Amino acid sequence: MVWQAARDSMKWPFFRRRERSIELLRESLSAVKSAANFCSTPWSVVREILEFAEVRPDDVVYDLGSGDGRIPILAAQEFGCRAVGIELDPDLFMYSAKRVAELNLKDRVSFIYGNFFEADLRSASVVVLYLLRAVNGHLRARLASQLPAGSRVVAVDFDVPGWRAERTVSIVSDGNVEYTLYLYRRSSSGAQRESTFADNATPLARTASAGASKAATGKNPKEKENA
Ligand SMILES: C[S@@+](CC[C@H](N)C(=O)[O-])C[C@H]1O[C@@H](n2cnc3c(N)ncnc32)[C@H](O)[C@@H]1O
Repeated sequence: MVWQAARDSMKWPFFRRRERSIELLRESLSAVKSAANFCSTPWSVVREILEFAEVRPDDVVYDLGSGDGRIPILAAQEFGCRAVGIELDPDLFMYSAKRVAELNLKDRVSFIYGNFFEADLRSASVVVLYLLRAVNGHLRARLASQLPAGSRVVAVDFDVPGWRAERTVSIVSDGNVEYTLYLYRRSSSGAQRESTFADNATPLARTASAGASKAATGKNPKEKENA
């Protein structure tokens, strides 16, 4: 009995410290995987993104970091295509999945609870990125090796470093917030090489920093537009 108590008094602090270390390790791992804070794109801008990518009913749109799910949902509702969202945040994932069920869109829209750095993107024909420039850079090799010929990538506010955009457009949302869209298209050569997306560093510091302030705060100045 005495021995048991002595052993517990020695063990419990050890176990508590160990539990805390595991907790800290989990937090760090999730911070490493989470490549961007949640900041939703206004609905009007979502529509412009999908038009800019020339989304058609036979497309499959992927949103990497799908937040509340609005890009895949609007793609299916207004452009008639299939769409997939990949989201690391469990609450946002659950919210999106619930919305899809409520809207009866389960046959065309799905959400994956997971890390886009590990996602299978081979069935995507359009990929939307509203992520930081460095994150786009980390995704570049995966996009280049997995996306089929003719697929398009639209990057919002932050370009993909090392790729030359086919088109760039600046749009202003209803709330007077400027967004820059970059369109990249995979050439139809079919060769699975990164160079099939035109290479060229594009130093668009002005527009990148405009987007940086939106993403850095994690707040969208036009949040009320998102209702
Ligand atoms: C700037 S928000 C964009 C949300 C949505 N695409 C939109 O435009 O409204 C970026 C999202 O990426 C998610 N995210 C960050 N890192 C991720 C990762 N490694 N895998 C999946 N999602 C991630 C965040 O949780 C956040 O919801």
